[in-house]
Amino acid sequence: MSKLAINGGAKAADFKWPAWPVWDDAERKNLNDVLESGKWWFGERVHEFEEKFAAFQKAKYGITCTSGTTALEVAMLALGIGAGDEVIVPPYTFMATASAVLKVNAVPIFADIEPDTFCLDPDDVEKKITDKTKAIMPVHFAGFVADMDRLGEIAKKHNLFIIEDACHSWGSEWKGKGTGALGHCGVFSFQMSKNITSGEGGIILTDDEDIADKCLSYTNCGRGKGKPWYQHFVMGSNLRMTELQAAILLAQLTRLEAQTLKREKSAAILNEMLADLPGIMIGKMDSRMTRRSWHMYSIRVKPELGISRERFIEACGAEGVPMSAGYPTPLYENPLFEMVGDGPDHCPVSCPFYAKKVDYSKVSCPVCEAVCKDTIWIVQTVLLADEEAIRGIGNAIRKVIENVDELA
Ligand SMILES: Cc1ncc(COP(=O)(O)O)c(C=O)c1O
Repeated sequence: MSKLAINGGAKAADFKWPAWPVWDDAERKNLNDVLESGKWWFGERVHEFEEKFAAFQKAKYGITCTSGTTALEVAMLALGIGAGDEVIVPPYTFMATASAVLKVNAVPIFADIEPDTFCLDPDDVEKKITDKTKAIMPVHFAGFVADMDRLGEIAKKHNLFIIEDACHSWGSEWKGKGTGALGHCGVFSFQMSKNITSGEGGIILTDDEDIADKCLSYTNCGRGKGKPWYQHFVMGSNLRMTELQAAILLAQLTRLEAQTLKREKSAAILNEMLADLPGIMIGKMDSRMTRRSWHMYSIRVKPELGISRERFIEACGAEGVPMSAGYPTPLYENPLFEMVGDGPDHCPVSCPFYAKKVDYSKVSCPVCEAVCKDTIWIVQTVLLADEEAIRGIGNAIRKVIENVDELA
């Protein structure tokens, strides 16, 4: 008789999963206060949020802006990265990590990731350094923290900047220090799916006052701190966060610690329930990563399980577990990167400043390519469910693995 729900059996995880975003009267009151104040653009609430979020990550300065994407672009500008420069990025990430490099006319160079943290592999980073390399941009995928000790050493040795794409890591820490100012600066997103959200929004964190001032200038039309309003010093843009967004974020921030603890507890339960199961692999918890914020719980489906990742998702989905396949390909396989090689010549990857050409069709990052085929994501909102539901996920996954023959 069939046991698996996909074949007509009872569901192992028949729960209602938490809705996102979480909000209540705190957001409503803050928004109402802004409405009634008549001051809707950036002001005291934006600055209050910048200070509080920077303190949450243990960084000195925070400069808000319209999104994680624009925050990455501003960080590049503030560090003076531009035409002819190379920036080393991972290919297992959202497009903004690489497109921000292209936006400032620099060239993204892909280095592979580590199989159990999905973050930049320092050994491959070192292999990709050339005389044009200006920066390394680690992504703290799903709240894991990239190996900042090794990356820091490499950056120091080769005189490179480190810009952290911390868009998945609100609350993550490396040796007790929050992500975002472990390198020269770091960037967070407050887009709708993120662990703290205002629909859209972003922030750049740094411990360096000069970088902070430059970020402020680039986000505020090139104005200078304390300088006359109609004087513009750099080619900035209007990327200012509004008081309405800050009103929501200030309320969201009051829940972030409790929600982070909840996700940590859920992940610990899943780690315990899944660690010894055959046919799957869960992430590595490096002891130097003193806190992980859990934007996603990730599982790799190993070949010995005998079924595809898609079939695994289908079977777990039928049991009631919400899962997805995540990034389908390494970034360099996106149509955007058909620029040189069989595609047309394009600045900046074939511009005269660069005096080189990159052919992205020849890039190969085998670990990332495997991860794109075998990894599943359980998103952060699910981790806010109560303990019984989280145990239901563990039970459902165990059930699918124990009855995998039914899926043949
Ligand atoms: C790793 C990563 N970097 C950058 C971004 C860009 O952030 P935003 O959507 O706020 O522009 C995202 C958002 O999805 C992301 O996941």
